[in-house]
Amino acid sequence: MIIVMLGAPGAGKGTQADLICEELGLAHISTGDIFRANIKNGTPLGMEAKKYMDEGKLVPDELTVRILLDRVSKDDCKDGYVLDGFPRTIPQADVLKEALNKSDEKVDFAIDVEVPDEDIVNRMSGRRSCPKCGASYHIQYLPPKTEGICDHCGSELIHREDDKPETVLNRLNVYHAQTQPLIDYYRGEGVLHSIDGTKPRDEVFKAILGILKA
Ligand code: AP5
Repeated sequence: MIIVMLGAPGAGKGTQADLICEELGLAHISTGDIFRANIKNGTPLGMEAKKYMDEGKLVPDELTVRILLDRVSKDDCKDGYVLDGFPRTIPQADVLKEALNKSDEKVDFAIDVEVPDEDIVNRMSGRRSCPKCGASYHIQYLPPKTEGICDHCGSELIHREDDKPETVLNRLNVYHAQTQPLIDYYRGEGVLHSIDGTKPRDEVFKAILGILKA
């Protein structure tokens, strides 16, 4: 099963992708996490990606697509995967479609997690992220068991550099201009499902599972 998570920055794509992967035994692939791991390790890819991410812009398609296609070719993806943060442009979606066609595969579900812009800045200002395992928390809605510490791996949580309000507004503008058109793209492919992302995390998950298991 191949699932694409769509939605604005902070809509809850990563939170739901984690739950789906745990439930269905799929690999969770977040291009944002791949870039952040490379930034942390000081790789040339990380240095290149950082220039764009710090300003809330998209990393160029050519670089992103190369990383993604390499990642989905790994063994842990052979039974399916959830793409969180990819594709983000029509050209990225076209490359994915073409690559999947070659192995007689396709995107089975595109789940659009809908959250209005007004709620996004609040979510981002309260988000705390684990720099090691990528887990995401919210100081008010989804707090870790111990303040500031990741439940899963015990690392110290951080407030992501690109979660500052001014960068979040740039990310939202980029989302509307370049990523939102993917909603029509996947509607045209007959695989789009929209869900209300303003509900509590577990209710959103229940709605997604209802779609995946229908
Ligand atoms: P990326 O890491 O993908 O960021 P994003 O899409 O902006 O999404 P986020 O991770 O910020 O949010 P999310 O929707 O996963 O929400 P979360 O579950 O954490 O990308 C970062 C950057 O990398 C991009 O700006 C770009 O530069 C680059 N990049 C990445 N992929 C790229 C690509 N394909 N092409 C080009 N460039 C790319 O939830 C948010 C908060 O809300 C959390 O605190 C969470 O606890 C809380 N929350 C979640 N669900 C709920 C709920 N139901 N109710 C209340 N709170 C909730």
